[in-house]
Amino acid sequence: MATGTEPHPKSGGVRSGTRAAIDAPHLRTDRWWLAPAATATGLFLFVVYSTWRAFANADYYAAPYVSPFYSPCVAENCEPMRSGPNWEIFGGWWGLSPAILILVFPLGFRLTCYYYRKAYYRGFWASPPACAVAEPHKKYTGETRFPLVLQNLHRYFFYAALLVAGILTYDTVLAFRDEHYAWGHMGLGTLVFLLNIVLIWAYTLSCHSCRHIVGGQLKHFSKHPVRYRMWRWIGKLNDRHMLLAWASLVSVALADFYVFLVASGAFDDPRFF
Ligand code: FES
Repeated sequence: MATGTEPHPKSGGVRSGTRAAIDAPHLRTDRWWLAPAATATGLFLFVVYSTWRAFANADYYAAPYVSPFYSPCVAENCEPMRSGPNWEIFGGWWGLSPAILILVFPLGFRLTCYYYRKAYYRGFWASPPACAVAEPHKKYTGETRFPLVLQNLHRYFFYAALLVAGILTYDTVLAFRDEHYAWGHMGLGTLVFLLNIVLIWAYTLSCHSCRHIVGGQLKHFSKHPVRYRMWRWIGKLNDRHMLLAWASLVSVALADFYVFLVASGAFDDPRFF
């Protein structure tokens, strides 16, 4: 006779038929919900902030700084950011914010990141909410079906992220010029941009895909000493991937917010020289 507690034939995790039948939802006594709740809150705040800034289509340039949310600017409604030719590749794009065109790449990179997947699967979908805590869903198909099968695009987003990091590096170099395009400038914004680009590169290079590209599919490390050294180095960064994911998320929002404050006239960029 059915008792209502039999495992679903396709269920996984602690409810699967091969696991001990325990009635309690979990046996954990610690505050296991704290990490997913903090994660969900942090990601939610970032999504709200970045959505507001991406659609604002204003206050994203204050010479010599351009917001990382809007770089590279590829629409003609972008303000002239550089002394050379503008990057007006896409024309007016029907008046859409240029950030919409650009953010798909860094957002795709973060959305498909192995760490962020764990974070938002747990934080928003409770799938599962924590180790040894059963998820509420009746069946589990993993990342084998649409839309989650698209997570496998991560490696390609990694290549795009390398390009974006290169462009943000260029923007950081330009932050050493003043508003008249003369070199030798340094303001508080220059330091904000420097911190941001270091964290962006550290996060990008600590990617699991990067680690595999550098050191994967080798039979003998001894025959590839350079790749072995790079793999070891990236492995050390990879150990801190979660930390770098959060630090770079905060730093990119901070760099954008700094540009917003200066561009909107709420704050003057203090200059060191
Ligand atoms: Fe996180 Fe690639 S695994 S960025």
